[in-house]
Amino acid sequence: MSCQYSLLFLFLCGFAVLIVSKKTCKKELLEGTSCTIKLITKNEIKPNEIKWFHVTSETLILRWKDGDIKNIAEGVSKEEDGSLTFKNVSLKNAGKYKYHAFNVDGTEIGTGEEEIQVYAKAPKPTLTFDCDADRNATLTCDAENRTDLTLSWYIEDKIIQNEKNPQLFLIFYQTRENKTYSCGVSNPVSSEQSENITVLCYGPSPLDNFMVSILAGGGAILLLLSVLIICTCRRCRQQKKHQQDEG
Ligand SMILES: *[C@@H]1O[C@H](CO)[C@@H](O)[C@H](O)[C@H]1NC(C)=O
Ligand SMILES: *[C@@H]1O[C@H](CO)[C@@H](O)[C@H](O)[C@H]1NC(C)=O
Ligand SMILES: *[C@@H]1O[C@H](CO)[C@@H](O)[C@H](O)[C@H]1NC(C)=O
Ligand SMILES: *[C@@H]1O[C@H](CO)[C@@H](O)[C@H](O)[C@H]1NC(C)=O
Ligand SMILES: *[C@@H]1O[C@H](CO)[C@@H](O)[C@H](O)[C@H]1NC(C)=O
Repeated sequence: MSCQYSLLFLFLCGFAVLIVSKKTCKKELLEGTSCTIKLITKNEIKPNEIKWFHVTSETLILRWKDGDIKNIAEGVSKEEDGSLTFKNVSLKNAGKYKYHAFNVDGTEIGTGEEEIQVYAKAPKPTLTFDCDADRNATLTCDAENRTDLTLSWYIEDKIIQNEKNPQLFLIFYQTRENKTYSCGVSNPVSSEQSENITVLCYGPSPLDNFMVSILAGGGAILLLLSVLIICTCRRCRQQKKHQQDEG
């Protein structure tokens, strides 16, 4: 093969890849992707008329007849074989699609239905925490309040089973362990994880308070004892004085 032919061959290969890369729409799609819903006719007969409906919004999105496009919605295009391509699928494109294909006589030669679900990319959640007076902490995972997301919590990169609330409560002794926490959000097409954080709460913990109260309690007893001793001594001295005066 001469150099020129090789180049031509490569060029054609590239072209073939481009054509093949028109991918078929999956059931669950990431917003912004491009894909095609296939139109299939009996015995692969070339249709003379095609109608595509978005059943969910009851709109005709594409009508093609006698080689001309009569109606077309924004953001879609028609393939050579009548298949429907989304250039940049959006959340409002979600739902059920239906097509009808007819031959020259107006006889239906193909019909089909396909449903797609579209999801926005998961945002990176922000993880913050608040400490209370007892050094308990409340961790909050903020992911823009999106209802399509499932939340999960991780301690030292291990998932905490069955913990799906956007807030996680840590009792004071857990906040002393220096463990890293993170949260993650996901939908069927994407997922994101927060930064790893170490929860540190300053101030006295209930245990410290307990120690303080023991010490304080001890102090009070000492004070009481001192007062008692002083009083007893005084009385002693007074009694002695009395005895001396009388004697
Ligand atoms: C797809 O649409 C979104 C908004 O609907 C736009 O921000 C984005 O740039 C578009 N992407 C492409 C590749 O056209
Ligand atoms: C810290 O948590 C413990 C156990 O749940 C609770 O009894 C205590 O009241 C909490 N402290 C504060 C200041 O909320
Ligand atoms: C999510 O909702 C909570 C309470 O419903 C609100 O405090 C918070 O600001 C919301 N977050 C965002 C990013 O909208
Ligand atoms: C916990 O982390 C802090 C700051 O990173 C560090 O100063 C401290 O020594 C750590 N404590 C333990 C018990 O690892
Ligand atoms: C959190 O820490 C783990 C390892 O300890 C690491 O694999 C992961 O990438 C970290 N995540 C972030 C967002 O830094």
